[in-house]
Amino acid sequence: MVQRITLPSLQKRADALRAAGYNGYLLAARDVFLDMLTDSGVNAMDAEQYAAMLRADDSYAGSESFFRLLGTMEKVFGLPYFLPTHQGRACENIIAHTFIGIKNVVLTNYHFTTIKAHVTKFNGQMENMITDEAFAPKSNHPFKGNFDLKKLAKAIETFGRDHIAFVRIECGTNLVGGQPVALENVREVSKLCRRNHIPLILDASLLSDNLYFIKTREDEYHDKSLAAIIRELASLPDLIYFSGCKFGCAHGGGMMTADEKLYAKLRELLPLYEGFWMHGGMPAREMEAMAVGIEETLNLDVIAQVPMFVECLGKLLVEAGIPVIRPFGGLGCYIDAAQFLDHVPRKQYPAGALAAAIYLVGGIRCTEMGVLSQQRNADGSEFFPPLELVRLSIPKRVFTLSHMKFVADRLGWLFRNRHLIGGLEFTEEPPLQRSYFGKLRPLENWPDLLMAQYSRDMPDGI
Ligand SMILES: Cc1ncc(COP(=O)(O)O)c(C=O)c1O
Repeated sequence: MVQRITLPSLQKRADALRAAGYNGYLLAARDVFLDMLTDSGVNAMDAEQYAAMLRADDSYAGSESFFRLLGTMEKVFGLPYFLPTHQGRACENIIAHTFIGIKNVVLTNYHFTTIKAHVTKFNGQMENMITDEAFAPKSNHPFKGNFDLKKLAKAIETFGRDHIAFVRIECGTNLVGGQPVALENVREVSKLCRRNHIPLILDASLLSDNLYFIKTREDEYHDKSLAAIIRELASLPDLIYFSGCKFGCAHGGGMMTADEKLYAKLRELLPLYEGFWMHGGMPAREMEAMAVGIEETLNLDVIAQVPMFVECLGKLLVEAGIPVIRPFGGLGCYIDAAQFLDHVPRKQYPAGALAAAIYLVGGIRCTEMGVLSQQRNADGSEFFPPLELVRLSIPKRVFTLSHMKFVADRLGWLFRNRHLIGGLEFTEEPPLQRSYFGKLRPLENWPDLLMAQYSRDMPDGI
């Protein structure tokens, strides 16, 4: 689908940003030139997906669209049981309901916000066990999403297997730079879980990029087909779930397993939260599009597109001297905002300020992934996550390489003038999900100084 976009004038961008409280989530899409906020639900579908949508069967029960999707999941993953849901977090709700009780500890390579929210809602506790390399922005480790197996074994011993609800592995990781997980690591985690009788759940939302990295970075898999790699991966956990807004390029999600008893347990909750179990709240046309999108992940050209665009943009940013998380991963380019704005204290939200400045100079909307998107500690103090990032997401098949050049050009200008950017403070701070709903203001009116310099350097006002 092709859509017209416009770059509002500098003054219009400044006005829109102020009205949005310096929060990209509150900007109207009409005021955005390049939308790099996320890929969720905004990946472009291809002609085959649109064609498939036309044959959607909307029958409430037993629709052909459901059976086609079921058949695709079985063909791709080799797992017989599949349940559709309306989004990835809907699976997480059902998983938390099913698994968390007396056993309430969840060990994960790295959490995503939605799973953490569901686990904690059920009085569960989530612990990250990712390799330390993940927090070294300059480390070139090819699989920074890997579990640290020693930390995991130790945690199983410390918490005790009778207190661990499940182990979750996110392939690849979202909040730590789109970094992938090696198949070898999944194999070892699976062995450890089986030995200790702990269920292993795999979040496959970012699997498309992760597959590309297994194939291209893991020696053992260079010569294996993507179909064989997925089958091997799928044989390791007890349950796989995903956001179809990311994996499958449609709108929906789902869970699959080879365990009939687990399937029956999960299925009971579907009508309660999602809809009839043969659609789980997904329109039939989305099931059709998702089936085609998932089958297309078996094609290397299809899954290579995002990692190649990330690498292209990443290299341009590095040439401009900008600190980018290495090695380049999936989903988008992640900028180390703590280093980019090393003069802005973390309590003044450097990633939030950088995201606002990027919109101001280029009409580019990106995601803050630092202190601002964390909830405060119980005593009201700020929670400081290990990384302070800004993510420039690259939705699948949406941008051209000239868009990437434009982004690198505007970020290059911003980096040369970074001393003009200051911090932010809240004017409206809701206690929950402040990054979605909160409003802020710049400290010491730095946007005016930035705009004045920008107008001198770019007199056409664009
Ligand atoms: C790794 C991961 N898991 C789960 C989700 C939640 O999926 P959804 O947005 O479809 O609810 C996301 C969404 O971005 C994600 O990145």
